Amino acid sequence: MSVSPVTILAIESSCDETSASICMDGKVLSNTIATQAVHEQYGGVVPELASRAHLQNIVPVVQQALQKADCTMADISAVAFTQAPGLIGALLVGAQFAKSIALSLNKPLIAVHHMQAHVLANLLVEPAPSFPFLCLTVSGGHTQIVLARSPLDMEVIGETIDDAAGEAFDKSAKLLGLPYPGGPLIDRYAKLGNADAFRFAEPQIPELNFSFSGLKTSVLYFLQAQTAKDPAFIQHNLNDLCASIQATIVRILIKKLKKAVVQTGITQVCMAGGVSANSGLRAALQEAGKKHGWKTYIPPFEYCTDNAGMIAITAYHKYLAGQFEDLSVGPTARAGWS
Ligand code: KG4
Ligand code: ZN
Repeated sequence: MSVSPVTILAIESSCDETSASICMDGKVLSNTIATQAVHEQYGGVVPELASRAHLQNIVPVVQQALQKADCTMADISAVAFTQAPGLIGALLVGAQFAKSIALSLNKPLIAVHHMQAHVLANLLVEPAPSFPFLCLTVSGGHTQIVLARSPLDMEVIGETIDDAAGEAFDKSAKLLGLPYPGGPLIDRYAKLGNADAFRFAEPQIPELNFSFSGLKTSVLYFLQAQTAKDPAFIQHNLNDLCASIQATIVRILIKKLKKAVVQTGITQVCMAGGVSANSGLRAALQEAGKKHGWKTYIPPFEYCTDNAGMIAITAYHKYLAGQFEDLSVGPTARAGWS
């Protein structure tokens, strides 16, 4: 008897990426992403504009995902969407769209937690980590160390008490006069600079938690003092400043990751989220892995930033576990794990 495949249509709309993915039996067939350029001119994501752009993008993005996967709506076994956390207006667009499709196709509906999905992005490429593993999730909104025992059993064992690592990159970049999002630019200039040129504050935070707000203040005061003496200080030292800021953020992250490995005894270590695109962080994780005997995993860039592929793989595991929602389910902006 042939068993028909489990084909999931997944939608991600939590922030400024409208994305749709088709995944069949846990393999991603398509992962279409429309990045909203409208926010660039404002130096950050404008929630109302994000909701409107999702409304414009969602139909073509879903159609493209179906086309790329060579599927039609008739092939879909279940429809999944990002339920939380995120911008509420943005989440609502994806949730309402997914609910309408599920209702019209009479198919099950699956709600996915965005942060759990970031972790499971590591299952999308071979070789994938086996359970249990640790994941450092670093994005513009979150910084967490997650202990993943199984696809649906995860625990946040450390997180930021203030800014996220991505915010530390972006806010430092802003102080240097760089456009938003500044993280990738700091990465680019850092490659040309000396990471030991300047020293910035590294916080002493208990347990496995992080803090990045002190770094931002330390960079601010340092730049104010230096530019008072030499107005062209930033211009003359941009590469060294970027290299030193990046190295500080990377040291803060890797230090806690090492502590997490010691505490849990788990030596499979993954990364997720937009900041895991950072070349300094990638190199530091690989180096720590070699030095301490960890197995390290970093998803390719398209699965590091916000994408529906990670929502689809999470939904696949929820499908197998029979975790479905009725149409009364709604999105929530809060970050707590469902
Ligand atoms: O996961 P993501 O795409 O969106 C969410 O925040 O959910 O992460 C975006 C963050 C931004 O703060 C951006 O500056 C940062 O990831 N980022 C980087 C790099 N690429 C993206 N930060 C440092 N170096 C990079 N190469
Ligand atoms: Zn994200």
